[in-house]
Amino acid sequence: MKILIAEDDYVSRLLVRKAVGKIGHEVIEAENGRIAWELFLEQEPDMIISDWMMPEMDGITLCQKIRASGRKMYSYIMLLTAKDKMTDLVEVFDAGADDYIIKPFKPDELRSRIKTGERIVQLERRHHQLQEELILQNKKLDSTLRELKTTQGHILQSEKMASIGQLAAGVAHEINNPIGFIGSNLDALKDYMEDVDELLSHYQKLCKLLVAAPGGSLCTEIQNEVKAITEFEEQIEIDYLKKDIPELLHDCKDGTQRVGKIVADLKNFAHPGNDKQMLVDINKGLESTLNVVYNELKYKATVTREFGDIPMVEGFPQKLNQVFMNILVNAAQAITEKGEIRIKTKKEGGQVLVAISDTGCGIKEEHLQKIFDPFFTTKEIGKGTGLGMNIAYNIIQEHKGKISVQSTVGKGTTFTVSLPGKT
Ligand SMILES: Nc1ncnc2c1ncn2[C@@H]1O[C@H](COP(=O)(O)OP(=O)(O)OP(=O)(O)O)[C@@H](O)[C@H]1O
Ligand SMILES: [Mg+2]
Repeated sequence: MKILIAEDDYVSRLLVRKAVGKIGHEVIEAENGRIAWELFLEQEPDMIISDWMMPEMDGITLCQKIRASGRKMYSYIMLLTAKDKMTDLVEVFDAGADDYIIKPFKPDELRSRIKTGERIVQLERRHHQLQEELILQNKKLDSTLRELKTTQGHILQSEKMASIGQLAAGVAHEINNPIGFIGSNLDALKDYMEDVDELLSHYQKLCKLLVAAPGGSLCTEIQNEVKAITEFEEQIEIDYLKKDIPELLHDCKDGTQRVGKIVADLKNFAHPGNDKQMLVDINKGLESTLNVVYNELKYKATVTREFGDIPMVEGFPQKLNQVFMNILVNAAQAITEKGEIRIKTKKEGGQVLVAISDTGCGIKEEHLQKIFDPFFTTKEIGKGTGLGMNIAYNIIQEHKGKISVQSTVGKGTTFTVSLPGKT
C-alpha cells in the first residue's frame, strides 16, 4: 500500500513514518497541505495520514478536496489531531475522513488503525470493482437485448413477407383459373356476337322489306309480328345495343387482362418459397412491387417511371422487392397532400442504380445518419417499427450493394440503391 504522510512538524512526521515503515508500506511525505494535494493527484496514494493544522492548506481542506476530486480509486484518510472535543471530531468526519488519531499517539495504536484502514480500502476497492463489472454486464445485457429485439423484428418482418408471399400465391392461383376461362369465354362470346349481329342485320333488312310491302299483300299474322318487332326494337334501342355490346365485351376482356397482370405481379413480387439466388430483372421487380403497393400510393402521389436498360442482378427477388416496397411505402407516408414519386433505373459502370425520389416532408439533418439504425422512427407508436430501412440496409449489404439517402427538409428525399450488375 502507498501511504502519503502530510505533516509540517518534522518530529511528528518521523514518528509516523517509523510506525508505517514497520509494517512495510511505501511512504511518501509532504510538509504542508498544498504539497500533499499535489502528491495526491500525482501519485494516487491508497491512504493519507494528515495533520489537521498545517501551513498553506489544513488537513480538513485537503480532505474535502480529495473527496471532491471524484477519483474512482478509494483513498483512506486518517487525520492526526491534537483536538479531541466532540465538535472537532464531527468536523473530521464531515470533511470526509475515515478515521482520526489524537496526538500524541502510540505507534501501536497508529499501526492498528492503519491495518483497519487497509482492510477498508481493500473492501472499497472490491466493491468498486464489482460495481464496474456490474455496469459492464448491464451494458452487455442491454446490447444483447437490443440485438435480440432487432433479430426478432427481422424475423417477424420476413415471416410477414413469407406469409404475404404465400397468401398472394394462393390468391393468384385461385384467380388464375376463373380468369382464364372468363377470358376465353369472352373471346368466344365476341365471335358469337359478331355472327348474331350479322344475323340480326339480315332480320332487320327483312323486316324493313316487309314494312315496305304493298298494303294487303301480307297476312295479318305477319303484319302483327312485324309491328311487334319494330316496337320491341324501339323499346330496347336496338341500334344502341348493337353498338354497345361489342364495347362492353371489349371492356370485360380488358378487365380480365388487368386482373391477369395483377395476378402475375403478385406471383412475381412474392416468389413464395423461392429463396434461392437467381438472376433478377430489377425493372420487373419494381413494376410488380409498384402494383402491389399501388393502393398505398395512389391517393398520395403520381408515380413516374424512368426505367433504363439495365443488366440483370444476381440475388433474391423477394428480398429485393421488400427493399423497394419499404422505400416506396416510406415515400408515400412522407407525402401529406399530393406529391410525386419518381423511380429511375440506370446502368453506371458495372452497377445497376435505382433512385427512388419523393416530394415528401424530407429528413432532418440530425436524423439522416440514424435512418438505417434499427428501431429509429419518427412515426407515432403503433405506426412505425423503425425497421423498414434497417432491413433494406441489411438486404442490400447481403447483395454486396450500397444504399444511401439524400434529403432536404420540405423538399423531398431520394434513396439510391446500387447493386452489382451481372455481366
Ligand atoms: N422518404 C422519406 N421521407 C421522410 N422521412 C423518411 C423517409 N424514409 C424514411 N424516413 C424516416 O426514417 C424513419 C425510419 O424509416 P423506417 O422505414 O426504417 O421506419 P418507419 O417507416 O418509421 O417504420 P416501419 O418499420 O413501419 O417501416 C422514418 O420514421 C422517417 O422518419
Ligand atoms: Mg418504413
